[in-house]
Amino acid sequence: MKPTVVVLAAGLGTRMKSVLAKALHPVAGRPLIHHVLNAVSGIEPEKIILVLGHQADKVRSAVGEYRPEIVLQTEQLGTGHAVQQAAAALSSGAGPVLVLCADTPLITSTTLQDVLDLHQKSRAAVTLITAMVDNPFGYGRVVRGKSGVTRVVEEKDATAAQKKIQEVNAGIYCFERKFLLSTISALGRSNAQGEYYLPDTIELANKKKLRVSAILCKDPNEVMGVNSRYDLSRAEEILCRRINRRWMLEGVTLLGPDAVFIGDEVRLGHDVMIYPNVRIEGRTRIGNGCVIYPGTRIVDSVIGDNVVVKDCSVIEESEIATLAIIGPFAHLRPKSVIGSRAKIGNFVEVKKSTIGEGSKANHLAYIGDATVGQDVNIGAGVIVCNYDGYGKYATVIEDNVFVGSDSQLVAPVKIGRGALIAAGSTITRDVPGDALAISRVPQESREGFASRRRKMKEKKAV
Ligand code: UD1
Ligand code: CA
Repeated sequence: MKPTVVVLAAGLGTRMKSVLAKALHPVAGRPLIHHVLNAVSGIEPEKIILVLGHQADKVRSAVGEYRPEIVLQTEQLGTGHAVQQAAAALSSGAGPVLVLCADTPLITSTTLQDVLDLHQKSRAAVTLITAMVDNPFGYGRVVRGKSGVTRVVEEKDATAAQKKIQEVNAGIYCFERKFLLSTISALGRSNAQGEYYLPDTIELANKKKLRVSAILCKDPNEVMGVNSRYDLSRAEEILCRRINRRWMLEGVTLLGPDAVFIGDEVRLGHDVMIYPNVRIEGRTRIGNGCVIYPGTRIVDSVIGDNVVVKDCSVIEESEIATLAIIGPFAHLRPKSVIGSRAKIGNFVEVKKSTIGEGSKANHLAYIGDATVGQDVNIGAGVIVCNYDGYGKYATVIEDNVFVGSDSQLVAPVKIGRGALIAAGSTITRDVPGDALAISRVPQESREGFASRRRKMKEKKAV
């Protein structure tokens, strides 16, 4: 029978010392809680019940894609109390109930399936996941008797001897549904924190002479709970390594993988080569054969095949077609669309503009709110003046235009097909196709002026 899953995420996460609910802190590029929900989705549950409290609306809107049923816990009186709030939502089904906390992002579907299988095979009332850890501080300790786990003791309730136990409770349990529903209302709160503890169900199962099973997770990292920013950094490190390893096995070359960040939602083609100190974030897609040089950050962008992004470029919410070359030191701001074989070079900033196939802006340019056709050459130092202090205006540069270096195109303005803009021009009116536009003070050369001036200065100095 398919399990129902309950995920507890009502707590604020006081130890995070943050205004943001713990479940929403980003790890490997997505909210902490997504990692737990991804692992849960892997076992195809009948439904997911999510217990929310602190910042319930924010958490709810961050998890929509998983379609959970939301239950509110208005007062956070402990993990047992949190599950009590889900009792009504659990009353209809019949399969086992898997309960997990939103703060164990490293758990895998495989381990969740293992706990379900053992639970069903052993016909237990409750099956928990435990792990042996070097530093058990903060975790509930697993107390074992002759016939297995007898109870879990929280850090704050543990005796000095119990604190030495290195087997800890992962906070992940599989319950026989009827047992859970009858026991959850019987929990007390006479403990150091005055809370209803979910792990107390284990002691209650033993009292009723029901079976308690436990599975020792081989990789203690998997059950690591994130309670502080330090824990968050460790989880990030482990998740990023897993993601990078997966991409390397899929045919991506990572040079110095520990210094490469690839967000969990990123997708890469084969034969992509990524140098150190690169961050690829959000829902970025990168095609086959791309090379991303050091120091680059790419966010929510779509990059075609065989694109080269040279060192220290920033690419945000943009699209780049095949064989384009970006950078070094280029900045593509949101809604930039770069055509095939186009080149956006050194210190060039592009904002909300389309650059046609084969067009080039190789040095020191600003292109904002512009539509640039094919095979256009934008010379060094060209500025599209798209803003007059009040509004933004559009610029159109048609196919095969040559914009000479150090020109300014004052928007709104249109440069017709094949036109030539002379270097150093300030263009304020539309330029017809095939025309030469030149707007600069005519040059004057005064012969012999320099030596006359030198003599004058030298005379004065005497
Ligand atoms: C809990 C376990 C502990 C275990 C550890 C594993 C209890 C009493 N202790 O401790 O045995 O070793 O997890 O990581 O269960 N939550 C609510 N409502 C509440 C309280 C908590 O929804 O009223 C949620 C939190 O948002 C969090 C989860 O339950 O996602 C665990 O709460 P937390 O306070 O982190 O428990 P721990 O002290 O870590
Ligand atoms: Ca915790």
